Amino acid sequence: MSPLIPVRFEPQGITVMVSPGVDLLEAARRAGIRMDSVCNGQGICGECCIEIIEGVVSPFTLDEEEVDSSCELGQNLRLACRARVLSAARVRVVNPSAS
Ligand code: FES
Repeated sequence: MSPLIPVRFEPQGITVMVSPGVDLLEAARRAGIRMDSVCNGQGICGECCIEIIEGVVSPFTLDEEEVDSSCELGQNLRLACRARVLSAARVRVVNPSAS
């Protein structure tokens, strides 16, 4: 079993420990942080934007490039449901859920 790695959410200052490979939408849920995610992690709605401040996540994908998102997605601005944590990371939710 891989050791757990910390993911810190800013500005909330909440850190959760997750297994490598967990996506950031799931990590946010475990941290109790709600974010817009109408498609529930299917990579379709483009709402779950997250900024990678520090750390290594899975590479930006062609799927993300094709999603119609209000965010300018790229290496540091990702869909949380498509970015899998590969090292200790610090991130910021761009579109926190209003509900
Ligand atoms: S939750 Fe819809 S694209 Fe990530």
